[in-house]
Amino acid sequence: MSVTWALPFKEKIIPEIGRERAIDPEEYKRIHEESLKDIEAFWSNIARELEWFKPWDKALVADPQPPFYKWFVGGRLNASYLTLDRHVKGGRKNKVAIIWEGEPADQSGNPVEVRKLTYYDLWREVNRFAYVLKNKLGLRKGDTIGIYMPMIPELPIAMLAAARLGVIFTVVFSGFTAQALADRLNDAETKLVITTDGGYRRGRVIRLKEIVDKALEQSPTVKNVVVYRRVGLNDVSMVKGRDYWWHELMSDVPANTYVEPEPVESEHPLYILYTSGTTGKPKGIVHDTGGYMVLLHATMKWVFDAREDDIHFCTADIGWVTGHSYIVFGPLLEGMTTILYEGAPDYPNPDRWWAIVERYGVTIFYTSPTGIRTLMRFGDDWVRKHDLSTIRLMHSVGEPINPEAWRWLWKLAGRKKVPFGSTWWMTETGGILISHAPGLALVPLKPGTNGPPLLGIDADVVDDNGNPIQPGQRGYLVIRRPWPGMLLTIWKDPDRYVRTYWSKFPGMFYAGDYAVKDEDGYFWILGRADEVIKVAGHRLGTYELESALIQHPAVAEAAVVGVPDPVRGEVPVAYVVLKQGYQPSEQLRAELNNTVREFVGPIATLSNVFFVTKLPKTRSGKIMRRLVRAVVTGQSLGDVTTLEDEASVEEVKKAYEEFK
Ligand code: WT7
Repeated sequence: MSVTWALPFKEKIIPEIGRERAIDPEEYKRIHEESLKDIEAFWSNIARELEWFKPWDKALVADPQPPFYKWFVGGRLNASYLTLDRHVKGGRKNKVAIIWEGEPADQSGNPVEVRKLTYYDLWREVNRFAYVLKNKLGLRKGDTIGIYMPMIPELPIAMLAAARLGVIFTVVFSGFTAQALADRLNDAETKLVITTDGGYRRGRVIRLKEIVDKALEQSPTVKNVVVYRRVGLNDVSMVKGRDYWWHELMSDVPANTYVEPEPVESEHPLYILYTSGTTGKPKGIVHDTGGYMVLLHATMKWVFDAREDDIHFCTADIGWVTGHSYIVFGPLLEGMTTILYEGAPDYPNPDRWWAIVERYGVTIFYTSPTGIRTLMRFGDDWVRKHDLSTIRLMHSVGEPINPEAWRWLWKLAGRKKVPFGSTWWMTETGGILISHAPGLALVPLKPGTNGPPLLGIDADVVDDNGNPIQPGQRGYLVIRRPWPGMLLTIWKDPDRYVRTYWSKFPGMFYAGDYAVKDEDGYFWILGRADEVIKVAGHRLGTYELESALIQHPAVAEAAVVGVPDPVRGEVPVAYVVLKQGYQPSEQLRAELNNTVREFVGPIATLSNVFFVTKLPKTRSGKIMRRLVRAVVTGQSLGDVTTLEDEASVEEVKKAYEEFK
């Protein structure tokens, strides 16, 4: 039986920092411990704040066994209903849901296109498009579709229309290449792709439909393509019987079309989102509907202190999980106004974000360390030009934030007084798990920290054997108990799900990050403990880059490692062994870089390629990337007893030194 849990801090904490107004971390620890006593009851009380078509029978079930957890089993709901219908019926009909601006700007830098969609507008468009998906394209609950679109309102419209029908969508970041797109469409076996003729990025037009056409040469499951006319290109090739224009499909669908939202089971997949792992192809992370909605609701309240008059600006792209959760589903679930912008932070000028904040009176600003560091280089004046006084709360996400970047933004945009945290989470967690929570209880800020775990989240730092570690010591971040919003599995690969996350330390979710906990119980996430690197906040498996490199005829072997970079956090460098008959050259370097960009995407641009005759390996023949990384980052080599040939390390060193 569940007990009632009253949130400890109903009153709002004044958003100003200072020990006297913040609660003591010890007190937060007590509240946190209390929340873990009965996690089913705890999360059920939050879940009850949403509207369910049918209540759940059991909050948490391991089915068929751990770690296959299912939340709110027996319950039925619909994500499109919760984010739209509820507000349309409940007094927010004419409130602005989405403010969008496109990239093209006039001479003074003002956007030429701005669209504001009210909840009613958005609800209508979602209904009309859901009608198209269902009645013209024949999609049904459980079918999968791909979405490959730039940052325009039709992207969330497509996501919400799919959700309305229980159609599982996978959004592929529009910066990905045809190969990366094809891999994802194939793995998810999508029947449909929704795209546009093109999109704008830093003044260039990216011809997305052409990339889709190329991907479809290898994606046999895709039967139809819907193309939204974003740019107005007049030479788009359309395959008869396969490709349809969005506006043509929609032209005879009346404005008042209503499509009944499908009451899906709580554990019905809402979406699949691909992310990089240590080996193999990107993993299709599967998120449920019920648990995901509950975690978003809780984190919007706790972490973002969501209020009725907020203008919420998350600077991410919807192609990543941050955009799914905190541009689309989270803010709309709370009935807020969310901002969508097409383009880049430094185009046409390095004040794009600040202009947006000023134009729309942004109150909540959620961004990334890489973004901050990029803009820092352009100096303070671009920030000072704008009135940012509407901002009342900020957070960052994606990688550890260095204290300099934190201070810079806190001073200039935060006026040295707004709460500003670094929210830790990952694609797999669905939403924020470790963070300052100014909407719940404001503990003192510390630049660079992630803060304490949220209520109901049993996070810890453990040593190599899975034992708890002393405060101040580095260990591995784990989550000891399931949480709503957690991934259900890896699409079509449940074994990999168990292996990747639940096998390093049996019974605990292994995040793959190094972390330290301090005396106050704050977590400091230090970076990846595996072969994943974070480039400008984006997650790349070094293995993916190596696989791309060995596609090139000249390459026999390759090792890719991440090295620290002042702006992008980390950048990849490659060590390459050439096949017989090939010579190192500048041209080959450029070719190899192109190969990687072609297979993985521009994000993966190698910062350097070094040619060597052998790589450090273990006696059993495994490449010791750890040693390569130690050389390029100037760290000590550590244990080298398994190294097969010491000369290989010398060579790696020499290649690096010569370049420097
Ligand atoms: C990895 C997950 C979740 C949205 C964006 C990234 C790193 C994420 C932080 C932070 C330090 C962070 C971790 C994590 N990370 N947020 N606030 N402080 N590190 O999602 O692409 O799935 O990457 O990003 O290394 O494991 P993702």
